[in-house]
Amino acid sequence: MNEPPTLVRVALGRASYDIEIGSGSLSRAGDFVAARRKASHAVIITDEHVHSPHAERVAAGLISAGLTVDLLVIEPGEESKSVPVANHLWQKMLELGADRKSVVVAVGGGVTGDLAGFVAATFARGLAFVQVPTTLLAMVDSAVGGKVGVNLPSAKNMVGAFWQPIGVLIDTDTLATLPDRELRAGLAEVVKYGVILDNVFFEWLERNAELLLNRDPAALRYAISHSCRLKGDVVERDEREETGLRAVLNYGHTFAHAIEATMGYGEFLHGEAVSIGMICAAQLAQRLGRVDSDFSSRQQKLLARLGLPTALPGIVESEMLAAMSRDKKVEFGQLRFVLPTRLGHVELVGRIDQSLVRSVLQDGAA
Ligand code: NAD
Ligand code: GLY
Repeated sequence: MNEPPTLVRVALGRASYDIEIGSGSLSRAGDFVAARRKASHAVIITDEHVHSPHAERVAAGLISAGLTVDLLVIEPGEESKSVPVANHLWQKMLELGADRKSVVVAVGGGVTGDLAGFVAATFARGLAFVQVPTTLLAMVDSAVGGKVGVNLPSAKNMVGAFWQPIGVLIDTDTLATLPDRELRAGLAEVVKYGVILDNVFFEWLERNAELLLNRDPAALRYAISHSCRLKGDVVERDEREETGLRAVLNYGHTFAHAIEATMGYGEFLHGEAVSIGMICAAQLAQRLGRVDSDFSSRQQKLLARLGLPTALPGIVESEMLAAMSRDKKVEFGQLRFVLPTRLGHVELVGRIDQSLVRSVLQDGAA
């Protein structure tokens, strides 16, 4: 007998929605959608790795609730988060007769969710959209908060929108098919929440790292629901990243995006780059006297125990700095970083001396 699902509410006025975290819930996707929208037609967008069995289960659930279902399958990988693939999906939806009564259902990782959300936000000026995340990273991060979009060839996430889903349906059973490396990459974002928002959660992660790596269902469910709650709280207070609060979610990401751009997308998984990025950010904070070496060492130890990379690879420093200068947090040409002051608290800090950033890069974050 499955436990009842855990519900996390994201309160955004008329755009409020629930995140339902449970086990064996894909087959109930039809009821989940029907409870939120009077839709007669669903377009499921998924990728080839997730199509069978997960998206097929969602399709069966929607059909049993009386919806007509079309399934659009994209190629897995970051390259699919592009304008040409979005255009292909728009064309297909036009051929399928999708209209304002249709609902778009994203079944997959962050690539599928960001792309399908962008297509939903833009087709016919906006269709209702449901997220069914199937990677840990998507469950704890990308499916929550309404940031949707695609990459330009030289700039990640550059074209997009804020488009909140009408609901997020998380079935932790889907993680059974997720490769270990992808699971660990998702754990990097979970650690991020502890560092930036909740020292008690960080301590819980220190005590339960092995259970998480061994995919203990109760530990995973708690880590997912608590991460969703923490992210939801931030999104509720700064939905459109206007006050600087939501920017705290980008802890480690200035370095991470530069690593991804410099090494080429695909060398590191996003969560792996975030792990190294958090190490770099802690080193920078330490050089600024904001945290002590105990902070950096606890963060480093936890990430290493979770099997995540913690050392900066050999990267040309000037290329890293150039990539950082294209970060969306750059304001009036000044680099800004999300930096910790203690476990559970970070701040957005500007006017940072470039020589300090260089020294972190030169020392390989060690
Ligand atoms: P992904 O979508 O590429 O999925 C990773 C891999 O796992 C893919 O090969 C996918 O096919 C496969 N997969 C997915 N679910 C599976 C399952 N249950 N079993 C087996 N294989 C499965 O990557 P991701 O890590 O989920 O997401 C990364 C993307 O998310 C990036 O594009 C990043 O920019 C974006 N992102 C967005 C936000 C946001 O707020 N919108 C936040 C963080 C990350
Ligand atoms: N992943 C960062 C954000 O959602 O704002």
